[in-house]
Amino acid sequence: MRFTLRPRSGCLVLCLSVSLLTLLLQSLWVPPEMTREEPAGAGRSPEEQGHHGNSVRRLALRLEALSSQVQRLARERDAPQPAKEELTNLLQSLRQDQEGLVRSVERELQRMAQKLESLGHQPHTPRPQGDHRPQTGLREVCEVPEDPVYPHCAEKVEFLQARWDSDPCYAFYGVDGTTCSILTYLSEREDFCPPHPGRNHSAPPWHQQPHTHKEKAEVRTTLRPLYEVFGGIQGPAGRFIWSRVERLSACWIKAGHRIRENTIKTTSLQKRVLLYPGVLSGGAGQRFGAMVDQGGPLGELVQWADLSASLFILGHNLTFTTSQNHLHSVIGAAPGKGSCPIQRPLPFDIIYTDYHGLAHLQGAMGLAFQHYQCRFRILDSFGTEPAFNLGTYARSHGYNTLWGSWRLQPLQYMTMFPHTPDNSFLGFVSEEAMVEQEEREEEVEPGPYRKDNTAVVYGKQDYMWQGKERYLEVISQELETHGTVYQPPGHSAQLPSNIINHGLLTQDQFLQLLRRAKVFVGLGFPYEGPAPLEAIALGCVFLQPRFQPPRSSENSDFYKGKPTTRQVSSQHPYAEEFIGKPYVWTVDMTNTTDVQETVRAILRTEVKPFTPREFTSEGMLERVHAYITHQDFCSVSFPTWPPESALRIHLGPLGQSCVSVCRRASLVCEPALFHHLNNPAAFTRLGLSCSSMDQEVDNHIFPAYSPWGRRCGLQRERLLFSCAGSDPVHRRLCPCRAHRAGQVALCPDCL
Ligand SMILES: *[C@@H]1O[C@H](CO)[C@@H](O)[C@H](O)[C@H]1NC(C)=O
Ligand SMILES: *[C@@H]1O[C@H](CO)[C@@H](O)[C@H](O)[C@H]1NC(C)=O
Ligand SMILES: *[C@@H]1O[C@H](CO)[C@@H](O)[C@H](O)[C@H]1NC(C)=O
Repeated sequence: MRFTLRPRSGCLVLCLSVSLLTLLLQSLWVPPEMTREEPAGAGRSPEEQGHHGNSVRRLALRLEALSSQVQRLARERDAPQPAKEELTNLLQSLRQDQEGLVRSVERELQRMAQKLESLGHQPHTPRPQGDHRPQTGLREVCEVPEDPVYPHCAEKVEFLQARWDSDPCYAFYGVDGTTCSILTYLSEREDFCPPHPGRNHSAPPWHQQPHTHKEKAEVRTTLRPLYEVFGGIQGPAGRFIWSRVERLSACWIKAGHRIRENTIKTTSLQKRVLLYPGVLSGGAGQRFGAMVDQGGPLGELVQWADLSASLFILGHNLTFTTSQNHLHSVIGAAPGKGSCPIQRPLPFDIIYTDYHGLAHLQGAMGLAFQHYQCRFRILDSFGTEPAFNLGTYARSHGYNTLWGSWRLQPLQYMTMFPHTPDNSFLGFVSEEAMVEQEEREEEVEPGPYRKDNTAVVYGKQDYMWQGKERYLEVISQELETHGTVYQPPGHSAQLPSNIINHGLLTQDQFLQLLRRAKVFVGLGFPYEGPAPLEAIALGCVFLQPRFQPPRSSENSDFYKGKPTTRQVSSQHPYAEEFIGKPYVWTVDMTNTTDVQETVRAILRTEVKPFTPREFTSEGMLERVHAYITHQDFCSVSFPTWPPESALRIHLGPLGQSCVSVCRRASLVCEPALFHHLNNPAAFTRLGLSCSSMDQEVDNHIFPAYSPWGRRCGLQRERLLFSCAGSDPVHRRLCPCRAHRAGQVALCPDCL
């Protein structure tokens, strides 16, 4: 008899062999006096033969039952034909040759034992290291232990007894439906059951010490090896990322030199980093990638490119993938449907991904997902506020969203602009600023561009222009106004007649237009994009509409369902609040007087090209370096960065969020400092005397003070510390801090 040990059939055959062996052992080795006789074989008395004949018949019956079971299983589980045939053949040969039965059984037993032995050691079978099938006692009886430290053990065993074949990953880890194999799995691969007596206990990977990695992070002076890291990204998205990094490589390298001289005081250990933009994987990725060629949204790709370049310049070890299969292989996912934990300790210190990628990781890591989620960073353009991050809280308080509910620490979400201080502001670099800076560094005396009295309108599709005729008319009375609106062949775009439309321009042509223009005109959409930053970097003034009432998830389809309560006060709140005049002017688009007066005021103003430091390559390197060095979401203790010395406690008025309380004081809310003021002493320091100290109410605006009844509320769930959020009956205690000029993410003394 030969077993064909294909990976798929190997386990089924193995399981059957085990049951078969058990049956044979039961039939042949009990009672023991018989077995002593058998090896000799010859010279038996007729009684012995008769006795033997009985047990053979019994054996044959049981084998027959077993064979039909095998055939059923084979049909059900699509097991390869040979296994079934071989067992049938075995059965036939057993029947035909009753005389030689004992010896043949003996032989088969031996061969099976050898097979089992070799199967256990076969290098090509997909079996993780450290997996030991219970080899000691085939008749080992396993009982579900009752241990108060493992309250879910019995329940999990029961679940797996019923469902172990729902995902091949269980069989991969040696589960064969027996209680013993399940207990072994639940104690060594997951941590629901106590260590299994009589076995060398190996802890689940997340309890194992990662092998220490001693490389230092040295600032790199070339980006060339990074192109190999990008090797695996396919399609237009890959080309975009690759070409952006290459185009800006000289700027990155220069910025790296400056960072090494000015900022990085001590070298730290190199981090092993995985970058996985889930949005680019699979079918959705193809569509997303295809949009790149059609001028689609590039913000995310810009950010992935700049993040990769920053991490690489800072000396870290990168892996970049956009393939789900490759992801599975680099994280060591078990084959199957993803119900089981990964095979080894996670080989990355940090994983940057997005909401799509987070779902992919969850679907591939089993239980290990939650043990490693402190290592994740989520690129999330518009941000996720704490109230949406905690599923139970979000549902019970009506913070509905398709996203959110992952229970990460809010600072693990990384945004495109500093939207909410509850998240980390990752950003990107303003490309034109970098290139222009390069060019102007050559000149002796950098001056403003020579500007014509022209305006360029921000909006490449004509639906963005609808209803803005009056606004544009007022502007075009003062300035020659240019558009770059896509015109389908044979049609002209529906634009006011006083607009000079160039059609869709290449990026270079568009930038040429901006270099000569005085004003870049926002129409109110798209929201919060990168273009205004580039225009300001080229010496334009950005004129944009105010939103009254502000846009939010309540009144705007665009923000609907996004995990944020932000009230968006203009087309580009970052430009309005963080850059402001003389570079950014925000008007009431429907008020002709306001628009006209503003345009005239702009024409009297001269501005130089400007880029906030946080959108330069040096600023981004500085920020990413600070995050990598100081942010630790795996520690159970409270954050120690920024240091407590940065804390400025402010007591807000009724109805104001800490975001605005701090901003009004020219500071920024710092959620990592909340824990310092979540105690009775903080209320006392602010001169508040509390009649009660409430910690039982779930409310993301706590710690807060209610003047009615002088009730003080403390926060009991640290994941709910939130800069965002306000209500009319509470005054919030706000942890504000100062920030560096042009670098809102960093306080002056905390690099
Ligand atoms: C258990 O581990 C020890 C030390 O690693 C080793 O010497 C021993 O052979 C192992 N026993 C079994 C049953 O694997
Ligand atoms: C990153 O680490 C891997 C594994 O340690 C190593 O093989 C590779 O050469 C490293 N890459 C770089 C660019 O340092
Ligand atoms: C229009 O704008 C002007 C100038 O800013 C302002 O004085 C006036 O009150 C505004 N009118 C309305 C109706 O808002």
